[in-house]
Amino acid sequence: MKVLILTSGGDAPGMNMVIGSLFKKFKGKLYACRAGFKGLVNNDIISMKEYKPLKFINASGSVIKCSRCDAFKKEEHFKKAIDNAKRFDVVVVLGGNGSLNGAQELSKAGVHTIYIPATIDNDVEGSEYSLGFHTAVKGACETYRNIMPSFDAHERCGVFEVMGRKCDKLAKAVGEICRPDFLVVSEEDINYNQIANTLLHNKEIGEASSIIIKENLLDLSTFVENISKTVPEVEVRAVQVGYIQRGNRPTTRELKIAKQFAKKASQEVYKDKSVKLFLQNGKIVAVDM
Ligand code: F6P
Repeated sequence: MKVLILTSGGDAPGMNMVIGSLFKKFKGKLYACRAGFKGLVNNDIISMKEYKPLKFINASGSVIKCSRCDAFKKEEHFKKAIDNAKRFDVVVVLGGNGSLNGAQELSKAGVHTIYIPATIDNDVEGSEYSLGFHTAVKGACETYRNIMPSFDAHERCGVFEVMGRKCDKLAKAVGEICRPDFLVVSEEDINYNQIANTLLHNKEIGEASSIIIKENLLDLSTFVENISKTVPEVEVRAVQVGYIQRGNRPTTRELKIAKQFAKKASQEVYKDKSVKLFLQNGKIVAVDM
């Protein structure tokens, strides 16, 4: 039995726990592609023993590295990837929607493939959860809480941009916990006059203001500039929460879910069907690819 694992797309807290758990189970039979599908195309494959995965099991990032690999989609590269994948009994793919597409392509080409959702965006359709989300929410909330007292001391307005590429789940979850004055997840949520009134009122009563905005809606500095122009009486500061969300130390809950995904994956390794492991109704289930 030879098991190959790869982590693709943006890294997600919890990936290392899956890698480490599979290493505990399969030891010398576990191999890794360096940097996701790129490693599969280039045959950059190495025994997991060389990565000492157990040392990093509780850390964020990915000990086997990640990448976004467009080359995988090109026919000649794809063929190479398939040939390399077929030297293994099963390939375990961790990542978001792009990685799921890649896993499906492998499966269609006859590779026994197991997919585990891992993206802080939590936007993999069909799964209630993807690894990294809980840690990313916590990281953003901690950043907010650690910065707001300083803004309060100056009666400033903090504009916090949180990640989530095409999906507003992260911003909404952070907003629910931090309760900013404004949560902006679409351009329709922006009303500069309303923002100005609230910011002025908060300053009058000696308090800070806050806005949480989802990334990729509009340029953060332009947004801050527009607010400053509408309400020059209040100092506005931008905070790009960004990669703190991905690099944040995995929460205990994250590590627990990652272990559960790994356990299910190690059971599926011995079956011959390609599957996606999804959290549904609170349980991890294997859904046909
Ligand atoms: O997909 C996860 C994610 O963290 C998004 O929230 C974000 O938009 C993107 O990755 C950032 O990607 P990169 O690491 O390539 O800048």
